Amino acid sequence: MKKHDLLEAAKLLLEEQPNELAVLSNASAFIHDTIDQLNWAGFYLWDGKQLTVGPFQGRVACSTIPLGKGVCGEAALNKQTLVIKDVHSHENHIACDANSRSEVVVPIFIKNRLYGVLDIDAPIVDRFNDELVDFFEHFVELLVKVIDK
Ligand code: SME
Repeated sequence: MKKHDLLEAAKLLLEEQPNELAVLSNASAFIHDTIDQLNWAGFYLWDGKQLTVGPFQGRVACSTIPLGKGVCGEAALNKQTLVIKDVHSHENHIACDANSRSEVVVPIFIKNRLYGVLDIDAPIVDRFNDELVDFFEHFVELLVKVIDK
């Protein structure tokens, strides 16, 4: 499916759902099901002190991540998407699943406040090209609209 069609499908799946947990759960499953060669897709949510794992698809992951730590904490702190082509060459990486080789993290801000991050891992180096990263950023934009109603 093309990026535009994927976003339309995601919109249909998520937009009428008022429950945040349901939205985030299906959002992680949607990404995991529709994008191939991934080993983890899900959310870390800001609880006011740290990032805590939220709905996800994949292997058991670390429960909490301090702001600034790991790729997740770094993206949240810098308010910027981080694309790591090879996690072995990025010092500030937390290895939850030893199979992960590349990673993209998109921070989620709602009304200028940190809400959490979308974290996606792949078991191969350099999995995430510009088109995919653009898709994930648009996916987060859609999520923000759905959650911030
Ligand atoms: N690798 C992440 C930690 C979370 S797991 O990938 C699910 C990081 O460095 O922040």
